[in-house]
Amino acid sequence: MAISIKTPEDIEGMRIAGRLGAEVLDYITPFVKPGVTTGELDRLCHEYMVNVQGTVPAPLNYAPPGYTPYPKAICTSVNDVICHGIPGDKVLKNGDVVNLDITVITKDGYHGDNSRMFYIGEPSILARRLTEITYECMWLGIAQVKPGNHFGDIGHAIQLHAEKAGYSVVREFCGHGIGKVFHEEPQVLHYGKAGTGEELKPGMIFTIEPMINAGRREIREMGDGWTIKTKDRSLSAQWEHMVLVTETGYEVLTVSAGTPPPPAFIGNSVAGAKAAA
Ligand code: MF3
Ligand code: CO
Ligand code: CO
Repeated sequence: MAISIKTPEDIEGMRIAGRLGAEVLDYITPFVKPGVTTGELDRLCHEYMVNVQGTVPAPLNYAPPGYTPYPKAICTSVNDVICHGIPGDKVLKNGDVVNLDITVITKDGYHGDNSRMFYIGEPSILARRLTEITYECMWLGIAQVKPGNHFGDIGHAIQLHAEKAGYSVVREFCGHGIGKVFHEEPQVLHYGKAGTGEELKPGMIFTIEPMINAGRREIREMGDGWTIKTKDRSLSAQWEHMVLVTETGYEVLTVSAGTPPPPAFIGNSVAGAKAAA
């Protein structure tokens, strides 16, 4: 099966979905503080999507083959949780780091998938460095997006930066094509060899969402059927954007007023680095 090339109409729908997905993260930011529960963050995001945006949370009742239906609207992955943390009565405390992963579905049926890291109060030096390196990894991957490059170029750039810092790349989960379908081809690996894999073509839309562990890369699945933690209990970080391959490079679709700026090394000269403008 081939990787889909989006129509101009699809691309316009995905720009809207991406912006709405990012705006949920903007909305929730002031609430992400010591004392709040992950369940409260889920409730607030869910209400905002449905009542303010008119979007629907894609995770709710999402059930890929072999999974039980996901029970909440967002994912809240705290400290050694790599991904798919289920919101509940966990209270966030000073020094925690949390990834909030939001996917909206618009009224036209398009998915807007993105995530950011948040510090609860003051992070440890390790937590801050891991979070920053992971952000750089995502952007180094994005910077590889242009026609003629290969998916392996993205993975290679991410892996090189993570491992130079002494960290490891999670292998079991990857980025993905996205559109009217939440997860479609291709699988966007966050490790690999430059020049390998399919060629990038204008009109492809996919996520880049590296999960980077401070320790070893191995994972542990929790009994709830969803939550994934580091096997060695080391911290894990993740950031996620949706990108479109353009004729000259890339366009980040998950952009809102509160989107963090790209690292300085990306600069404004990079084709399509709209978020940097
Ligand atoms: N948003 C996640 C991703 O980046 C997927 C979460 S699936 C869920 O692909 F069911 F756990 F929400
Ligand atoms: Co995703
Ligand atoms: Co996501």
